[in-house]
Amino acid sequence: MSIPELADVHPAWLPPGAFRAVGARRVLVLGDGLLTGTVRAEVGHACARHGGSLEQDAAGSPDLVLALSSAAPPAVTSAGPSVGPSVGPSVARALAAAREVLAGQGGSAIGEEGYLLARRDGVTVVLAGDPAGLLYGLFHVVRLGEEAFAGERPAEPHRPAARRRMLDHWDNVDVHPVMGQVERGYSGGSIFWRDGGPRGDLARVRAYARLLAATGVNAITVNNVNVHATEAHLLTDRLGDVAAIADEVRPYGIRVHLSVTFASPMRLGGLPTADPLDERVREWWARTTEHVYAAIPDFGGYVVKADSEGQPGPFAYGRSHADGANVLADALAPFGGVVHWRAFVYNHRQDWRDRSTDRARAAHDHFAPLDGRFRDNAILQVKHGPMDFQTREPVSPVIAAMPSTRLAVELQVTQEYTGQQRHVCYLAPMWKEVLGFRPWGPGEDGDAAGDAAGDRAGRSVADVAVGASGGGGGLVAVSNVGDDFYWTGHPLAQANLYAFGRLAWDPRLEPDALLDEWIDLTFAPAQGGDPGPLRRTLHAMMDGSWRTYERYTAPLGVGFMVRPGHHYGPDVDGYEYTPWGTYHFADRDGVGVDRTRASGTGFTGQYPQPWSDVYESPGTCPDELLLFFHHVPYGHVLHDGTTVIQHIYDTHFAGVEEVAGSRRLWERAEPGDAALHARVTELLGEQLRCAEEWRDQVNAYFFRKSGVPDARGRRIP
Ligand code: GCU
Repeated sequence: MSIPELADVHPAWLPPGAFRAVGARRVLVLGDGLLTGTVRAEVGHACARHGGSLEQDAAGSPDLVLALSSAAPPAVTSAGPSVGPSVGPSVARALAAAREVLAGQGGSAIGEEGYLLARRDGVTVVLAGDPAGLLYGLFHVVRLGEEAFAGERPAEPHRPAARRRMLDHWDNVDVHPVMGQVERGYSGGSIFWRDGGPRGDLARVRAYARLLAATGVNAITVNNVNVHATEAHLLTDRLGDVAAIADEVRPYGIRVHLSVTFASPMRLGGLPTADPLDERVREWWARTTEHVYAAIPDFGGYVVKADSEGQPGPFAYGRSHADGANVLADALAPFGGVVHWRAFVYNHRQDWRDRSTDRARAAHDHFAPLDGRFRDNAILQVKHGPMDFQTREPVSPVIAAMPSTRLAVELQVTQEYTGQQRHVCYLAPMWKEVLGFRPWGPGEDGDAAGDAAGDRAGRSVADVAVGASGGGGGLVAVSNVGDDFYWTGHPLAQANLYAFGRLAWDPRLEPDALLDEWIDLTFAPAQGGDPGPLRRTLHAMMDGSWRTYERYTAPLGVGFMVRPGHHYGPDVDGYEYTPWGTYHFADRDGVGVDRTRASGTGFTGQYPQPWSDVYESPGTCPDELLLFFHHVPYGHVLHDGTTVIQHIYDTHFAGVEEVAGSRRLWERAEPGDAALHARVTELLGEQLRCAEEWRDQVNAYFFRKSGVPDARGRRIP
């Protein structure tokens, strides 16, 4: 197998130099299987470049051993001739010690995809139960660099928190007349499709799989959740195109999933109905799925957006979404596949005059009553907030409402509402807040996993997604990747993709540490190994960039205020009188959406305690969500003592200042790559322009509505 290092694409977090420490060593790889072959190829490639050696069966004394626990233990050189690889005594000791730790833990400590990492007697050992674990272990050693080969390291088990770690691509096969090749894509075309067919050259797909494997992602969906005419055929007569992608990503432990339309039995099968309870429909799904697995034996499953924004679904037949999901789940079950059924169901043809309909309520209204009615291999995929990937939203109440359903939490890496990869907006801090949120309240220390009596206090959103023994729905995100040279349009948006994969592997990781990992891998090799000054600059620009973005856009959780359609830049009333259900209700006296039980839409009642009451009162509602839950006068005083109107002015001036500060910092930065520096410089110019536009439109809008001047006398146009 050849390693996909492409000359015409930025290497992102796997530049050749990132493998220097591994590639300069003597490395032994023990075991069989496709992914073990990948590990061998990776190591061989790195060693050829950096002067080390991939030990075969020579009596070497490797510095690094990557071994499957099932591989026959190597013979020790002093013990005489052997058929397998033979190694020096220190290697044998290190390996035996790791095996002992593993055996002592009954093997359970690492499980599927996990590995043990240890170092003893000058030998670093990665021991895994299955080849995927070996691959993840190799990338761990790559991340550690020289540190992996220093001192001693007691055996540490590593395993993914959740079994499922998936990126959804909203890529179209045909160029959609409005949404283009990639819906909400800001990085050029698709890496899979072009102008109605597959791209043909799949080298980039292999390179993508490699990048993802290095973060821990193990599944991708290769087409948009909005399944149009051509894309529907990926399930049947165009299945070969999907199989070709699966072949490319398989060596990196990644399974392919497919977005399918609920109307497939009609559109593709010629049936008069797609009613999930109709026997012909069930049979059609079963037969079609059998064919899919004949072509792609490790196929992951289906993703379905039904009864949402014009996509067909079970409502047309008076059936529930559980009925809809289960028919697909049943078809997938014999092959171990899953259906990801999206909970993003709401009325997008709302009358803005009707104050009783609340889009935020929709997912909970539709799905909470169905708890316990989904099959085991049906995963309900819930957007992290109740609306739609806004810069600030509360956590979706659905996450707390369905304890007997497997839930996946869906995040958006593509920056639809967060600057469209023209603005620096490092999203890991937002995701970390979401994942750490405790829907049932803080609970006592030590009961984070919930107790048998069903008391869920202390459990977090991450705990729900991970599920018992990692068997929950896991994390899913909409990818931000395209065929752009930097993969992600904005070079710094690579950090979001990296951080998502790592958080899906381990939601306990910290955003600033993840940023360090990304900086070290991406930039350190070009900095002679020490990205010190650049590290400081990037932290200063990125750590707080999500909050900066929030400051110059829609205030206090009210959301939207974006240009309708493309969603870039400000348009305060853009969605105010539309059917989409995304309103702020600003008038001369105040702003915000009353979602209380007392006088509003009752949305606060969808939360368990304590949040139900915390959100109900403006006195206890967190400031950053105030306008999401309440309609308040401009003079309402926030917890920090500022009025709402003054907060709007202050944050909008501050947000622009922060962007200007980032731009000044970047002018002096030396990333060791002139083209990258130039691209980021150009984008920061656009970010500053756009942030000023946001500031001026939002401030002018609220000044004109309220008539309240800025207490600090700054110029509001
Ligand atoms: C947003 C986005 C759409 C997308 C939808 C979804 O509304 O603007 O382009 O299709 O989310 O998640 O299905």
